[in-house]
Amino acid sequence: MKTALLVESLTGNTWKAAEMIADKLAQEHWTITGVSKVRQPDLASIQAAELVLVGTWTHGLFVVGQAPWAAATISNLPAMRNKHSAVFMTYALDAGKSLDKLTGAVGATGADVIGGLLIKRNHLEAHTDAFVDRLIAAVADLGETARTP
Ligand SMILES: Cc1cc2nc3c(=O)[nH]c(=O)nc-3n(C[C@H](O)[C@H](O)[C@H](O)COP(=O)(O)O)c2cc1C
Repeated sequence: MKTALLVESLTGNTWKAAEMIADKLAQEHWTITGVSKVRQPDLASIQAAELVLVGTWTHGLFVVGQAPWAAATISNLPAMRNKHSAVFMTYALDAGKSLDKLTGAVGATGADVIGGLLIKRNHLEAHTDAFVDRLIAAVADLGETARTP
């Protein structure tokens, strides 16, 4: 599966998660077309991809008001109507409903969002493993659906 990653990161956790996800997918023989910043998206890598992964981090007051950072920028990414997408978001304590908000922001680009996962910043290894496992299963389901008449 040709996959591009778009990432927003302030202190590096989400970027690190994205690199771990890219490495794990490459080990599964997926083609990573590029890893770039949400604010400077590599358009060629998006164009070449069938699947675009979008990652950002949780911003809020830790118990209320959580939202995906850069949600407006994400919803204004280039149109991705012919792409599948999945989202991930790092957080420290409590992400509230921000994963749903991120799903909505990516959906606004026209992409078909097939899933998403929260990644706790002190569990990057385990949670990126879980994200990759679920992604592989979700993409296999897409293939099944495509083959079902
Ligand atoms: C200003 C600010 C607000 C934050 N608000 C929340 C929050 O409401 N809930 C939470 O779980 N984590 C919150 N965090 C923690 C970040 O989501 C977490 O550290 C994340 O991994 C940062 O990603 P980054 O290193 O890619 O920038 C906040 C961090 C900052 C700097």
